[in-house]
Amino acid sequence: MQTSTRFKLRRPDRLVVAIVVSLAILVPLGWIWVSSLVPGSYSVMAMGYPDRGGGRGEPGHGGHSAGARQQALPDAVPVTELTEPRTGPADVAVTLVARQEMIRLASGQAVEGYTLNHSSPGPEVRARQGELVEVTLVNESISDGVSLHWHGVDVPNAEDGVAGVTQDAVPSGGRHVYRFVAEDAGTFWYHSHQVAHEQVRGGLFGVLVVEPATARAEVDVVAAAHSYGRLRTVNGATGETRMRAAPGAAVRVRVVNTDNGPIDAHVLGAPFRVLAIDGHDLLEPDQVEDKALQLAAGGRADLGVRTPADGSAVRVQLGAPGGASVVIGPDGARAPKARHAEDELDLLSYGSPAELRFDPADADRHFEYSIGRRPGFLDGIPGLHWSINGHVFPDIPMFTVTEGDIVRMTLENHSGEIHPMHLHGHHAVVLSRNDVAASGSPWWVDSLDVADGDSYEIAFVADNPGIWTDHCHNLAHAREGLVAHLGYTGVSTPFQVGGTAENQAE
Ligand code: C2O
Ligand code: CU
Repeated sequence: MQTSTRFKLRRPDRLVVAIVVSLAILVPLGWIWVSSLVPGSYSVMAMGYPDRGGGRGEPGHGGHSAGARQQALPDAVPVTELTEPRTGPADVAVTLVARQEMIRLASGQAVEGYTLNHSSPGPEVRARQGELVEVTLVNESISDGVSLHWHGVDVPNAEDGVAGVTQDAVPSGGRHVYRFVAEDAGTFWYHSHQVAHEQVRGGLFGVLVVEPATARAEVDVVAAAHSYGRLRTVNGATGETRMRAAPGAAVRVRVVNTDNGPIDAHVLGAPFRVLAIDGHDLLEPDQVEDKALQLAAGGRADLGVRTPADGSAVRVQLGAPGGASVVIGPDGARAPKARHAEDELDLLSYGSPAELRFDPADADRHFEYSIGRRPGFLDGIPGLHWSINGHVFPDIPMFTVTEGDIVRMTLENHSGEIHPMHLHGHHAVVLSRNDVAASGSPWWVDSLDVADGDSYEIAFVADNPGIWTDHCHNLAHAREGLVAHLGYTGVSTPFQVGGTAENQAE
């Protein structure tokens, strides 16, 4: 047996080898490229693969059953039937007319963008807990179409406003009526969910406040932060916005982050408490001083503060000093200068713990939502793309649940950037971060910042049937494929992404 034969190929053989090697590379690459193409029209039901989270009595233990598609059962309930009663008078009725036009900011500057009733932010919608809200959306001039999503309100699925999932985008000249009961008191917001990365940044949003049926704060103000390009604003005004309050008044400041990245809220001039996060009250929130609270993109915090008895004012700084802020106090009162906070408030150990109304230890499903980056093709474009559980859009999981399930989800991020994760239609409670158990007040969220390297475990009850988007609220990331869905068995959607309505939720 020869062991050291020099292997020499003749010329034609070399050519054959070269061709075979090239094909061995190009054919799979071509296949990967072709399979990355997103069709012009498709249903989110047929996208990616079902992930059943190891659901009891069902196959596919949290895994990937290749090629398996979510089958719409013949007797499935269409999302359009998941509504509040469509008749009967509303308690709060609003008409919002959407336009693409020059915005005149409250502070005077003019910027190109989108308005509702000629203003950005759009009108503040206020309701009391338990009231039926009816909003008529009229699209006067937005050629891409428009929709309204009620961020943080656990509406029936048909009212969720996601173009291509729960409705068709409303074309220019069209209208759509949303109706829902404001079941939870709290601070919410609404925004377009059609071409959202462009329309929300461009101003197509507003604040929705649901006041408790009885008690109300002495002074109740909204502070919605938004960046119009490089102009950082609160309630549509750059710089300092004054709000009147008597010395010693109890003020509830409803902070809303409508931007794509986190912002710090910092109260200067008085101690404060975080009364609520994402429309859910915290239990026995401690009074703190000179701490910043980081708000996830899309997130809200209600801050409780008392104006000083000496007649000075309180400043609520949103973002870095030099950005925008609200100053609350008597007319002309002096307020402390904006500056950076001493440290950050950590909600994982803030307030007092309490029994939950369900037992997460008894979960029916456990999902992973692990965010990374992977080289590959996204719709034929090569790059380092966001991945969910190792898969690149549209080959991503449909988290599949049955009504009544207790669900745990591990949100993990090893992608190099922060992701504000937002699940529609539900609130989830934070169980732990990086294996440190939550020890404060139950911390219910609909928008949760998951920083690079962090891992959160959250839990919720699947109590709102539908097809729900579960995505990153950095809407540029969502546009780049950081979007999955939570689907209930027995529910289907007749709507298509793309198609004649040109639905493009993100
Ligand atoms: Cu605030 Cu899916 O959105
Ligand atoms: Cu993101």
